[in-house]
Amino acid sequence: MDLDTAIKSRRSVRHFTSKTPDWRDIIECIDSARYAPMAGKNFILKFILIDDPEKIIKISESCQQDFVAEAQYVVVVCSDDSRIRNMFGERGKEFVRQESGAAIENFLLKIVEKGLSTCWVGHFVEDEIKNLLKIPEKSRIEALFPIGYEAKKPLLRNWRIELDRILFFNEYKNKKMKEIKKVYT
Ligand SMILES: Cc1cc2nc3c(=O)[nH]c(=O)nc-3n(C[C@H](O)[C@H](O)[C@H](O)COP(=O)(O)O)c2cc1C
Repeated sequence: MDLDTAIKSRRSVRHFTSKTPDWRDIIECIDSARYAPMAGKNFILKFILIDDPEKIIKISESCQQDFVAEAQYVVVVCSDDSRIRNMFGERGKEFVRQESGAAIENFLLKIVEKGLSTCWVGHFVEDEIKNLLKIPEKSRIEALFPIGYEAKKPLLRNWRIELDRILFFNEYKNKKMKEIKKVYT
């Protein structure tokens, strides 16, 4: 699959079939995350692959999102900012969020390439999941991802923002790439 297709066909899926993904495919998706840029070459993320059905139900309850329990695998992404804060101080905290996003997008695009589906889940009771998975106190859960095969194709709505609403040239709000030259007649 070419990159453009992966980027443009990725979308959140919230209904999964009962078909079990090959866990090795998920490991490959996690592997892709390692290639994201990291400030100071400091990889700050850990990934927990969960296939225990009881844990998945508890995670779903912690998210208050039933569809999470439809998945047979959940990947929990957590970060530890202690080393990066030693290197970059307070700014390091922001770097952690940015690096998590970059690594997660690699992961998401590989999920698409593998023909799998997921949805970024950012709403959950963090302490409950940390206790359940024995995640150290100093770590944070960045997000979690129920993974499966898409049960039904959502109607493709192209809700994407138009490029000309987000792109400026040389200064904020300037929408022209080049000054229009006056034409003298
Ligand atoms: C930081 C973040 C947190 C999110 N949390 C949730 C969530 O808790 N539950 C959910 O169903 N979707 C969640 N989403 C998915 C968004 O709702 C989804 O990406 C958005 O509707 C755009 O749809 P798309 O992913 O199909 O492009 C989250 C996305 C991001 C980036």
